[in-house]
This record gives sequence, C-alpha cells and structure tokens, in this order.
Amino acid sequence: MNSPKVVVEGLCKVFGNNPKLALDMLAAGAGKDEVFAKTGQVVGVHKASFDVKEGEIFVLMGLSGSGKSTLIRLINRLVEPTAGKVVIDGRDIAAVRRSELTALRRTDMSMVFQSFALMPQRTVLSNASFGLEVAGVGKRDREKRALAVLEQVGLAPFAQKLPSELSGGMQQRVGLARALAVNPSLMIMDEAFSALDPLKRKEMQNVLLELQKNQRRTILFVSHDLEEAIRIGTRIAIMEGGRIVQIGTPQEIISNPADDYVRAFFDGVDTSRYLTAGDLMQRDGVPTVRSLDASSVAESLNGSAEYAFVLDGERRIRGFVTRDAMGSATPDVKQVESVSLGATLEQVVSRVCASSTALPVVDAEQRYCGSVDQAMVLKVLTRNRGSHV
Ligand SMILES: Nc1ncnc2c1ncn2[C@@H]1O[C@H](COP(=O)(O)OP(=O)(O)OP(=O)(O)O)[C@@H](O)[C@H]1O
Ligand SMILES: [Mg+2]
Repeated sequence: MNSPKVVVEGLCKVFGNNPKLALDMLAAGAGKDEVFAKTGQVVGVHKASFDVKEGEIFVLMGLSGSGKSTLIRLINRLVEPTAGKVVIDGRDIAAVRRSELTALRRTDMSMVFQSFALMPQRTVLSNASFGLEVAGVGKRDREKRALAVLEQVGLAPFAQKLPSELSGGMQQRVGLARALAVNPSLMIMDEAFSALDPLKRKEMQNVLLELQKNQRRTILFVSHDLEEAIRIGTRIAIMEGGRIVQIGTPQEIISNPADDYVRAFFDGVDTSRYLTAGDLMQRDGVPTVRSLDASSVAESLNGSAEYAFVLDGERRIRGFVTRDAMGSATPDVKQVESVSLGATLEQVVSRVCASSTALPVVDAEQRYCGSVDQAMVLKVLTRNRGSHV
C-alpha cells in the first residue's frame, strides 16, 4: 500500500532521427529551443522523475507543447521512451510484452481525452460499456456494471439515449463512465474537462472528487488550468519545455513558486484564497516558554521580542507573557485566541487585524505549531494579489 503506484525515473523522449545527439546537448545544458534550432530534434520530455502514490490525483500542468501528453503517453507506453523508465505497481513496463500491455491498457489503465469520442449510433449504456466489451466481458455483466457507473455520474436515466441527445457536459460524463466502468486502478485523463464551459467543468470536477472519496483511484490528470489543478490535485507537477520545473501540493506551489514561469500561471487567479493558516504561519516568529520562572521568561525574551507564548507540557497554548511582566515573580499570563491550521486566509485576516499580538496557530489537538501576524498577512496579500490589481 505504501509503495508508489507509478514511479517515473529519468524519463526522456526526443522526437526525431538523432535522439542521442539531442540528449547529449540536453545533458550539456541546452534547452528545447536550442536543440530544435541546431538539430531539428524535438524534445518531448526531458529527465522527468517523480512518484505517484496510490489514491493520489497527480496533475500535470504546463503551457501547450510543454510535454504533458507525451509524458502520460510514455507512462502507458503509447510512446516509447528515448531514455529512462516507468514502473507501475512495481513492474518495469519496458519489460511488459506488447500483448500484455494492450490488455493492461484496456483494463488497468483507462484513458479519458478531451474529445470524448463517443460512438454516435450507440446508446449511452452501450458507449459506457464499450471498454468492457473490448475486454471481452459478456453483455449482461458489462451492462450491469456500466449502469452502476452511469448511476455514479448521474446519468442512469439517460442510459437508453443516444449521445446526440445529451449536452456536451453529459457526453463528457459518458466518456468518464466508459473509463470508470473497467474499474481501472490507474486513470489517465488528458485535458478531460478542458472543452467544457466553466460551470460544466466545475461540475465534472465535483463528480470526480465525489467518486474519489469512495474509490481512491490513482489518477494522472493533465490540465493547463491552475484553478482546476488546485481544486482536484493532491499534487501538481509543472512542466516547461519538456522538463518538470516544480512538483508540490497546491499549497506548496502557491506559497513557494519555483520561478516566474510558475508564477505566471497565478495571473488572474486569487491564489491567496487557497492558503491556510498553516501555509502562512512562521514556526519561530514568536518565542515560547514553558516555565514561568523569571529566568526562563527572560531567556526566551532576550532578543527584541515583546512577548512570548506560554505553552504547557503538551505544547498547548496557555496565553502569553509580555516583557513588562518579566520582573514580577509570578508574571501575568494574558489570554490569546488561537487560529487552527486549516483556517482560511480570510479568517486569519479578520482575527489578526483585531489582535495586538501575533496569533498562535494550533493543530487539531490544540498543540502549538507557529504564529501568524499582521505583517505576514500583508506580505502574502500583496504578493498574491498585487501583481494583477
Ligand atoms: N508524435 C510526435 N512527433 C513529433 N513531435 C511531437 C510528437 N508528439 C509531440 N511532439 C512534440 O513534443 C512536444 C510536447 O508535446 P505534447 O503534445 O506532449 O505537449 P502538451 O503539453 O500535451 O501540449 P498541449 O497542451 O498543447 O496538449 C511538442 O513540441 C510537440 O510538438
Ligand atoms: Mg496535450
């Protein structure tokens, strides 16, 4: 259960007749454009390495031509790698025979594309059960399974309709049902929702998230839309010119974008609303004390700090002591409100603004994790919103 579902190691794909030359140039530090200009070889993917954990929705994001589709096709081996390897469920797929690979793609790795490619003359049910049909499942059984999946995506009442009688969003749900019906352990979705209008797209994201709650499939999801990636991604890998430039959780990427290319995806998106107190907090912004004797307090306040948080033996917040209270034998512990790790930026802003001190951030067990203060909040607000006000 703990071993990763997919392991990608040093994966490279060069399209052209002299990939070796291209790889040598890449190794020497050349970029995709330079390689193309000098050799005519097209770099699809260069040195991609990452793990996808069981049950994760792993989103590949990047501009057009950055290598997203090539990378997922390398994973299900519709494209042969120039170098590197792909291991799925512990098996190096380069070692899997062609015939076995076809079977694997039919049953264990389902693919959903942007164009749903439904068969117009077949009913919704028949379309949804097509993958099972190809896999050789009998009619009664496959229709039963397909109907169960249509139920999950809210299309059971339309089972006997033709695709043309459905809206685009519904057709895309049939495409999703077809992929789900074979019960794959790995779903590969290439811009699966990109053709939909924003509302339909959001609806499909919800369908997917809802399904994911019960089934915990491993999903590789390609998107060029940051908001989609943030909403559904457990982790996001950002690609540029065939390379992966950053991998992280949505929060990690928002709070710490690797470079300007990554930051450019934030344009027009209010990323601050995806941040929580846990993302904003500083771990050692405020000193802490456990014991209230004068020397402990003095020691923890020996810098420029005006106050320290007082913690109990379990690291729970008892309040704070100020520098002024230092001289007293029993310093006064003042009350302070805590903020939970998952509090949104909006919640943090209103609480921090109403407080004269930084606020402690606590986990579910009420243990102290760090602190948020006005300066920090202002910095995040200007950084995340400032570029496009
Ligand atoms: N079969 C092919 N033959 C030659 N070059 C290819 C082939 N497939 C992809 N490429 C090139 O590889 C690079 C990556 O393409 P890819 O389709 O993986 O990008 P992408 O990130 O999926 O883009 P998009 O967002 O437009 O779908 C591009 O420069 C593309 O021209
Ligand atoms: Mg693509």
